[in-house]
Amino acid sequence: MSFSRAIKIAPSILAADFANFGAECRAVEDQGADWIHVDVMDGHFVTNITFGPATCAAIRPHVRGVMDVHLMIAPVDPYIEGFAKAGADIITAHMEAGPHVHRTLQAIRATGAKAGLALNPGTGLDGVENLLDLLDLVCVMTVNPGFGGQAFIDMSDKVRRLRALIGPRPIHIEIDGGMTPDTAPLMARAGADVLVAGSAVFKGGSVVDPTPYGTNIRAIRTAAEAATGTVV
Ligand code: DX5
Ligand code: ZN
Repeated sequence: MSFSRAIKIAPSILAADFANFGAECRAVEDQGADWIHVDVMDGHFVTNITFGPATCAAIRPHVRGVMDVHLMIAPVDPYIEGFAKAGADIITAHMEAGPHVHRTLQAIRATGAKAGLALNPGTGLDGVENLLDLLDLVCVMTVNPGFGGQAFIDMSDKVRRLRALIGPRPIHIEIDGGMTPDTAPLMARAGADVLVAGSAVFKGGSVVDPTPYGTNIRAIRTAAEAATGTVV
């Protein structure tokens, strides 16, 4: 996984057909997805429940590129090895999931996976500075986690300050929640490079007719790249 700040679109399989994850991952990758974003929810840290390491392991052979695993679970540490063995390339834990996030990030890196830190909309950047050396990605939540299809909460100011804090370090800024061709440009302009999108990617398509996935991915990417000045 080489580092680049080019815009990456990461469809969240939370909005895919749960009976068809393998085919859905292949379909969105064929249609231009850069990463596959996997939302793990435990019914405790967030109210919703999705799936665990066994499902991630089953999905892995169907993902050619990066498998980006977002853990909305607490505690995190007992499950890190399981998700790493399931083939996660990036494992992201929440700042709010416990008092020992530094240890959690160390444990993620120790598995060989890249380490990500997610920040809820109500969480500031205060704790991030002391963690920079352990980070490969910061995920700025633009919804309160738990469900797909929620309204975007503008975190432009936080993203701009985070981008300045990161400076030249190879740390991705990922945005998660409510990403559409209308909202993605705001985040790209503020400094984000990974855009997670569930509903806005999977709407209108299916594994039988995946071309809308491609249309949707291109619409988000084109809008975001235009905002950063990247030639499209
Ligand atoms: C929210 C999840 C998101 C979600 C995004 O808890 O972490 O990844 O699936 O879904 P949309 O794009 O529908 O807001
Ligand atoms: Zn997510």
